[in-house]
Amino acid sequence: MKWFYPLLVISVSIPTAFATTPAEPGVPNEQARDAFVTRLLSKMTLNEKIGQLRLISVGPDNPKSAIRNMIRQGQVGAIFNTVTRPDIRAMQDQVMQLSRLKIPLFFAYDVVHGQRTIFPIPLGLAASWDVNAVKTVGRISAYEAADDGLNMTWAPMVDVSHEPRWGRMSEGFGEDTLLTSRMGQAMVTAMQGKSPADRYSLMTTVKHFALYGAVEGGREYNSVDMSPQRMFQEYLPPYKAALDAGSGGVMVALNSINGVPATADAWLLKDVLRRQWKFKGITISDHGAIKELIQHGVASDPQDAVRIAITSGIDMSMSDQYYSEYLPGLVKSGAVTMAEIDDATRHVLNVKYDMGLFSDPYRHLGPAKDDPADTNAESRLHRREARDVAAETLVLLKNRLDVLPLKKQGTIALVGPLADSQRDIMGSWSAAGVATQSVTLRQGMEDALRGKATLLYAKGANITDNPQVQKFLNSYEPAVTVDKQSPQQLIDQAVDMARKADVVVAAVGESQGMAHEASSRSDIRIPQAQRRLLDALKATGKPLVIVLMNGRPLDISHQAEQANAILETWFSGTEGGHAIADVLFGDINPSGKLPVSFPRSVGQLPVYYNHLPTGRPYNYLHPDKYTSHYYDAINGPLYPFGYGLSYTTFTVSLVTLSAPALSAGGSLQASVTVTNTGKRSGATVVQMYLNDPVASLSRPVEELKDFRRIQLAPGQSERVSFTVTTDELKFWDPQMHYVAEPGKFNLMIGLDSVRTQKTVFTLR
Ligand code: BGC
Repeated sequence: MKWFYPLLVISVSIPTAFATTPAEPGVPNEQARDAFVTRLLSKMTLNEKIGQLRLISVGPDNPKSAIRNMIRQGQVGAIFNTVTRPDIRAMQDQVMQLSRLKIPLFFAYDVVHGQRTIFPIPLGLAASWDVNAVKTVGRISAYEAADDGLNMTWAPMVDVSHEPRWGRMSEGFGEDTLLTSRMGQAMVTAMQGKSPADRYSLMTTVKHFALYGAVEGGREYNSVDMSPQRMFQEYLPPYKAALDAGSGGVMVALNSINGVPATADAWLLKDVLRRQWKFKGITISDHGAIKELIQHGVASDPQDAVRIAITSGIDMSMSDQYYSEYLPGLVKSGAVTMAEIDDATRHVLNVKYDMGLFSDPYRHLGPAKDDPADTNAESRLHRREARDVAAETLVLLKNRLDVLPLKKQGTIALVGPLADSQRDIMGSWSAAGVATQSVTLRQGMEDALRGKATLLYAKGANITDNPQVQKFLNSYEPAVTVDKQSPQQLIDQAVDMARKADVVVAAVGESQGMAHEASSRSDIRIPQAQRRLLDALKATGKPLVIVLMNGRPLDISHQAEQANAILETWFSGTEGGHAIADVLFGDINPSGKLPVSFPRSVGQLPVYYNHLPTGRPYNYLHPDKYTSHYYDAINGPLYPFGYGLSYTTFTVSLVTLSAPALSAGGSLQASVTVTNTGKRSGATVVQMYLNDPVASLSRPVEELKDFRRIQLAPGQSERVSFTVTTDELKFWDPQMHYVAEPGKFNLMIGLDSVRTQKTVFTLR
């Protein structure tokens, strides 16, 4: 639960009271930092140390007066959910005026896909397969958030997931390890910049450590049971990549792993994170996770939960008072050692040092006179970049008889509950974005068509007509509205309008709240109210273009048959409506590729491209009962990982290798020529996959190992080469050794994970 209450502004400027300032704050100088923090620790009382471990959200549970008191007593280390410079400055002022040691607070927020300017949701960003686009998002998000006074973000979320039922798939980068790693890494380097202490940088917190995306059945907060091989091969690398990129923080997951809640997992937080990966930053529990150790069944009472969390390696507790309440007693009784408290406190102070707060507690604030007069001023937005990035994230799934791009002429009917919803297009976790500043598809199409064609609009359906789902979606905020007209009246209007048009564009899918934390679904179809609308529109016989807005792969098997064209647009952000119109009308050629497989039905889940082979693979040419399949469904996804159409066509040549074999320590080049054989310029993503057909354990049928986005003019060809070294061939064997085993390997290159050119090489 998140609360945001503006605080009283105290506009006094107090110089830092620290006699000792670090040698060069912000410059990674671990020795100077350690010496500084050691000195500071030696001055702190036990209570002041424990205070640093407390992270609180401002709201009814923690009103301003209570926070002032906590600050005075050194009982709080950091604040989240406060997002304006005056509010933040007021609290930092209190630290400087009232507390004994004047240890600055840091301020954090969920800046997941933008701050004031909202970019597409991370799943959409992954669909761009464009690391530079993601860096643009990271830079601008950090810039805008730091400009609001924030020091830290709870992002990136790099939870690999094979579970479209899980609502949080929207916040991650999809089902693949390598793509997620590259995207997470790009976010970290872009957001942190040269240093999180820089004026317009933020410190990142990679989350949710670990394996949150693998919750059983996709049910939120559920448990995870996973082999160590799979963990280290498929799920842990993205966290590691984000940490190697320098992320200063780690947020610990709410789920358990093989029976041990991550919050209580000393193996995960100490052995893996600190010892093996040498992480020196801060670990933060997720919201209320410490007390949840009781419900998890590993702690007997709150005091026990606190003991387990701190001794397992949780430095900072998010949103509960348990550390403050129970740590003093636990230290007194000897159940928690002073060294454990010192370690956790050191990590908090380390990141404050790295944020540059000890040399300037007002680092991202500046003087009050420079505060923006209007926090939500239009001039603070980065619309151009938002539009350009959003256009790259759109995936053309179907385009029968080239119904797209649409011509800017005649009459176009736009229908659907998502066609004109400013809130939904921003997606979940849209941070401090303001819905009234976002461009809906209706607005985007009107702007594109002005004076050239007629655009008719009708809502056509509610997001859902299911009262229980409506109630759920509106349980914390009024998120979905129910039209005064009956569902049939809405459909009738839309159908009347469709009959007058040359083509129908239907914006359908999920509301933003349907793809969020705590939004697991057991049915991943478009809600029935909207399906009925689509059926009625189809019956008019007019060409039907579906514009999907959603935060997870949906089961669109039926719509894939009825639509003439389908454009997947995720939740595309502040400039989404313009970007979608750019693609619908062909001003931009779509180039997005799916970062996740689209299943044919929920019953087929999980469906992901890099699955293991079975001993009895199903063969469509020679079907046999005793093979691995469902007798009532087709194996494989509706749309595969890596897939996405363009308004032009591309061909990929056979693969050539620089050598037929590779020896340990060596490398070889695999190359193809990609040609734009159509009439429009366009971008595509060349993808390289590998498969180890005989190994000491079954290896996935294919795994993405590299990719490159290229732009080609009509008729133009480009030679694309990938380097293969033993690193790409390594895996965790049955004894948990990371090895590349000699033998033959299959290498596939293509423009998606299914239609590839294949060759073979040998590792000697
Ligand atoms: C979520 C985190 C988020 C935190 C703070 C939790 O409920 O799981 O992802 O960062 O709240 O808003």
